[in-house]
Amino acid sequence: MKPDSRGYFGKFGGRFVPEVLIAALDELDSAVNEAFDDPTFWDEYHAVLRDFVGRPSPMYRCERYVADLSPVPLLMKREDTNHTGAHKINNTVGQALLARRMGKRRLLAETGAGQHGVATATVGAKFGLPVDVYMGARDIERQALNVYVMRLLGADVHCVESGTQTLKDATNEAFRVWAARAGDTFYVIGSVVGAHPYPYMVRELQKVIGVEARRQTLARYGRLPSDVVACVGGGSNAIGIFSGFVDDPQVKLWGVEAGGEGLESEHHAASLGAGSIGVLHGSRSYLLQSAQGQVRETHSVSAGLDYPGVGPEHAFFKESGRATYPSVTDAEAIEAFKGFARSEGIVPALESAHAIAFARKLAAERSKDDLILVNLSGRGDKDIGRC
Ligand SMILES: Cc1ncc(COP(=O)(O)O)c(C=O)c1O
Repeated sequence: MKPDSRGYFGKFGGRFVPEVLIAALDELDSAVNEAFDDPTFWDEYHAVLRDFVGRPSPMYRCERYVADLSPVPLLMKREDTNHTGAHKINNTVGQALLARRMGKRRLLAETGAGQHGVATATVGAKFGLPVDVYMGARDIERQALNVYVMRLLGADVHCVESGTQTLKDATNEAFRVWAARAGDTFYVIGSVVGAHPYPYMVRELQKVIGVEARRQTLARYGRLPSDVVACVGGGSNAIGIFSGFVDDPQVKLWGVEAGGEGLESEHHAASLGAGSIGVLHGSRSYLLQSAQGQVRETHSVSAGLDYPGVGPEHAFFKESGRATYPSVTDAEAIEAFKGFARSEGIVPALESAHAIAFARKLAAERSKDDLILVNLSGRGDKDIGRC
């Protein structure tokens, strides 16, 4: 589904930005429409994904992780095998190609877990575009390995000391900088969030995950999955894999949010499960806010899920019932992080471990005629030593 001409999925999305950014968003919208209609854009995007990123990513059938609970086949879409270690690179390749088409000379990004910052620094190095990355002080501390890599790749990492010193504050700062520099700078957003056309553009760039996964599942099993599971921070890896199955009503879509210390504790990041409708970073969606409309502090053991909002298309899926958004606690995610590594020989990102933990619960209710497909959004090197 394409958002309407004003960028709405149902009543979610839109453009809630200061006047100075409207011209920049209009310019981007025209460039996106023109590029997405141009086969040469997609040819170049797919060539870079093949030769630089390593796509198609494999589909792997787990041997042991749920075998004690159920005979259901558990499949992993291996975004952790991508260059730079997560799905984020699919999106930054596409946005860097757009920046080049638009004649922009610099890239600007915000990052939480650092995977998006690393992915942006990587394409900046590859395409010869200087990169500024904004990152909360707390995340800089939590994700030191990624900060080192970004700097090695030549990016300037700017430390954001305001607020909770996490992704929300880094995004505020990146918006502020973009407003001053939109003439020569392309703002590379890291998820399906922000003002129109960002949620639509990022979805189209992450759709490759779902298109490949659908093809691989049909080729190998001759049937579609019964369930597709992905973790949800802003929602880009989930939208990416959901896109391959959204028109197949028999496939259940599950977006797993960070339940932190539990939804009753207030220390969580479950915007869809426990939030309400409001406006954050340029679009209307679900977010965690106080009764007075102040954005609430969030908590998750995984930096990449620690965001108080969610992409507007997920809000639309929640309201229409097309997808369901359970949550998994920090403790359950850590158990899955360790248990999955031990039983499958793959260290998942802590973000992905949320999806894996939920898939294990789901397995207990499924039979051998079902198929559970999980998007393994990234690898866990960055999380080693954190739990
Ligand atoms: C490995 C990994 N998975 C998931 C996410 C969450 O982002 P999104 O919901 O946009 O996929 C992140 C964010 O940094 C990440 O690094």
